[in-house]
Amino acid sequence: MIELKKIQSVFNEKILNINSKENLQNLKTEFFGKNGLITVQFKTLGSLNVNDRKEFASKLNKLKENLTNQIETKSYDLESKEINKKLKDEQIDITLPIRPHQNGKIHPVSQVIDEISSIFSEIGFEVAEGPDVETEYNNFTALNTPEDHPARDMHDTFYLEENKKILLRTHTSPVQIRTMLNGKPPFKIIVPGRTYRCDSDQTHAPMFHQLEGLYIDENITMSHLKGCLSYFVKEFFEVKNIKMRFRPSHFPFTEPSAEVDIGYSLENGKIKIGEGDKWLEILGCGMVHPNVLKNVKVNSNKYQGYAFGMGIDRLAMLKYGINDLRSFFETDYRWLNHFGFDPLDVPTNYRGLSK
Ligand code: DAH
Repeated sequence: MIELKKIQSVFNEKILNINSKENLQNLKTEFFGKNGLITVQFKTLGSLNVNDRKEFASKLNKLKENLTNQIETKSYDLESKEINKKLKDEQIDITLPIRPHQNGKIHPVSQVIDEISSIFSEIGFEVAEGPDVETEYNNFTALNTPEDHPARDMHDTFYLEENKKILLRTHTSPVQIRTMLNGKPPFKIIVPGRTYRCDSDQTHAPMFHQLEGLYIDENITMSHLKGCLSYFVKEFFEVKNIKMRFRPSHFPFTEPSAEVDIGYSLENGKIKIGEGDKWLEILGCGMVHPNVLKNVKVNSNKYQGYAFGMGIDRLAMLKYGINDLRSFFETDYRWLNHFGFDPLDVPTNYRGLSK
């Protein structure tokens, strides 16, 4: 009997100092494990006579129950302490004011990508993406570009392998192929992304950004394309009227193809978009060529649609009056401070794109 009281008091003392789940588990093993203090007591029952055994067993069971309860209570305490600590550590004081002076700025290219995505998402376009490293097949062949097309020339394209099978994509158009191969029509996507060509001067950089658009469904016509682009241009430049013209052009992946110009004038050396007698080319577009649809196993008797591609950097330069493309990629902090945007002013159609 003395033994049992002693066990209880040892236990009481030990459990007081327990402060982790791991220690509690050790304590449990110490008393209830294979050779635990309680387990050992149970093993002695067999050697007692019937009366003593009954009495001892009853006391032992009570003690067992008592210790088990204490362990459970402790376990519950530890758990709630842990939760409370977590809640306290992760607490955010939402009443704190924001930092009034932020140092970081959003790059004009990122800003323009957000603006364009917002404009097109308003009329049901989803954003799709593809890798910068492409196959020659997706970048050229599937897009109906003939073997001897000048765009394939080593002087324009960065090939990554001698056999010219892998390259840095020269436009975002291969994402048309990827998207159509991986899904079923209708397709309605825009694709912002990096593109690469061997070129470098005031208006060309070896890495630049494009935005691709693709809309394939039943009964999509050139007039849908015109409506879509005229909506885009007005929203993007944030002016009510913009003079626009579609000039016949040629791209292997569209038939018919066109280039789009917008009207502008020069006022005191500054470009004013929308009116005037000067024209500025901003994008290429057309109706997707049936051969392209055939290459991605889309039935061109049932489905057709349009595609377009524009230079994001160029649009950013026009909208924000930046005159050297190379400055985009120089990571000059002063430049970014001047042309960059406030990170908290996320562009949306309803609140304003560039305010
Ligand atoms: N990929 C063309 C380029 O880089 C731009 C382009 C033109 C894309 C017409 C299109 C399109 O989707 O239909 O110059």
